[in-house]
Amino acid sequence: MRFTLHIWRQKNARAEGRFVTYEMDDVADDMSFLEMLDVLNQKIIAKGEEPVFFESDCREGICGTCGIVINGLAHGPVRGAAACQLHMRSFPDGDTIWIEPWRAAAFPIIRDLVVDRSAFDRIIQAGGFVSVRTGSAPEANNIPIPKDTAELAMDAAECIGCGACVAACPNGAAALFTSAKISHLALLPQGGPERARRARAMVEAAHVAGFGACSNHRECEATCPKRISVNFIARMNREYLRGAFCDSEASGGKAE
Ligand code: SF4
Ligand code: FES
Repeated sequence: MRFTLHIWRQKNARAEGRFVTYEMDDVADDMSFLEMLDVLNQKIIAKGEEPVFFESDCREGICGTCGIVINGLAHGPVRGAAACQLHMRSFPDGDTIWIEPWRAAAFPIIRDLVVDRSAFDRIIQAGGFVSVRTGSAPEANNIPIPKDTAELAMDAAECIGCGACVAACPNGAAALFTSAKISHLALLPQGGPERARRARAMVEAAHVAGFGACSNHRECEATCPKRISVNFIARMNREYLRGAFCDSEASGGKAE
């Protein structure tokens, strides 16, 4: 297979970026998209030039590092798959492919296709954890959880933190990511101790990090490689109001 690639090259967040064109031939149809970029980089390095910087780790849709925009779509044209799960057979022979980094103010470009997603870490640090007594493993069956609830919590916990939801959102909102993290903890009894403050802390951390607000475009749900549902955003909003209500109760009914 043959492809014309237009790839975004940018030295750092302050430098001016531009698309650079590369021609690829002899691409096997069972090659993954990232393997194709590996082969391109070998050719670029052989010419004594700087390779295209991109991020990856697991290459099986688990770690969330490989996010790139392919032909205008976060993670490319296959629904429910991360960029590392794409194969070249998903593109017609002779196709022209445009490859870009995530575009969002809260994800500054580090180099070429690599962006800084540490803003997600700051949201997690604000409340995406549970208090546990370390040093002992409690018997799992001590806390029975209805199967439907456990399944729903697992649906939310599938989020791999890739950032595609932010890249696809016209507001650059992190609502789907934040709601998935809040929901999987809110649904389980283990998340109970911090529940009253978690949603407010995480939503406010997202705001401080520079993410926009959700206005129900649902591009996030359409592009998410784990098919996280926007229903979790509704749950996040309920959790947020619940936190405000708890604050109001604690202050003797005088809401802020
Ligand atoms: S919600 Fe989906 S798109 Fe957003 S970070 Fe999680 S896995 Fe990625
Ligand atoms: S490289 Fe881990 S999800 Fe793609």
